[in-house]
Amino acid sequence: MSKERSAEYRQHVEEATVFVSRSVGFVPRAAVVLGSGLGSGAAAIENPVVIPYGEIPHWPLSTAPGHKGRLVAGYLKGVPVVAMQGRLHYYEGYSMREITFPVRVFGGWGTEVFFATNASGGVHYGLLPGDLVLVADHINLMGANPLFGPNEDDWGPRFPDMTLAYDKKLMALAEEVALRESVNLKRGVYIAFAGPSFETSAEIRMARVLGADLVGMSTVPEIIVARHMGMRILAVSCVANYAAGMTESPLTHQEVLDEMGRAADRLTRLVVGIVASLGEEGR
Ligand code: HPA
Repeated sequence: MSKERSAEYRQHVEEATVFVSRSVGFVPRAAVVLGSGLGSGAAAIENPVVIPYGEIPHWPLSTAPGHKGRLVAGYLKGVPVVAMQGRLHYYEGYSMREITFPVRVFGGWGTEVFFATNASGGVHYGLLPGDLVLVADHINLMGANPLFGPNEDDWGPRFPDMTLAYDKKLMALAEEVALRESVNLKRGVYIAFAGPSFETSAEIRMARVLGADLVGMSTVPEIIVARHMGMRILAVSCVANYAAGMTESPLTHQEVLDEMGRAADRLTRLVVGIVASLGEEGR
């Protein structure tokens, strides 16, 4: 990306940030990304201000099935929050910069916490479809990084640290809330492929050897940008299926959506509990 394109991108981010902050009127404490089949979680948000992505200047529109495409801002037990109902994926053909545009807007808006949810495949038999897993680390095998190109120094450093990307305090908080809500929450490492084809059996064997627990096609670019902007990061993944080659049957997106539908209430309860308890969190 050239310096000119980079300056234009920055201007677009700034225009979108002004638009959403004026439309919403408060600064959210957390931005929550609701992944595949999890959009219904936004229904828990009180006094919602709903902004379809199409109304936000320069906001890229998502095309994936199971993704609604709107921002919902409001409160969860008094904590100001904004939710993305529907995220963008690299496999849709957008650039890494485009899919992380919303994260730049949240960062510029002053949002402290970036909280991602997603659907994933379980890479080993210790994880079952329906399991909720706190992402403790990731492996980026997407073949690209959203920070390629000129660095905007006031957004973040050229070489941001990733060893402390997943906020330890937030992970502890999430585990506390899970206990309180009687939701089983595991921990795992998420490996991201670009997709959109599901992985091969050999790729899943490789992922297992590399130390991954979960496999998916999203989230990692957003996490990198959120880290670049100095946001505190939390990510929870819902295992939708055994990964490729682990059962006799081929993988389908419908299977993913069906499992996410079954897990949605539990995951929503967890997400609402976590965001609500940010209000009580000492830093
Ligand atoms: N692979 C990649 N992405 C996914 C999967 C999977 O098995 N399940 C849900 N998202």
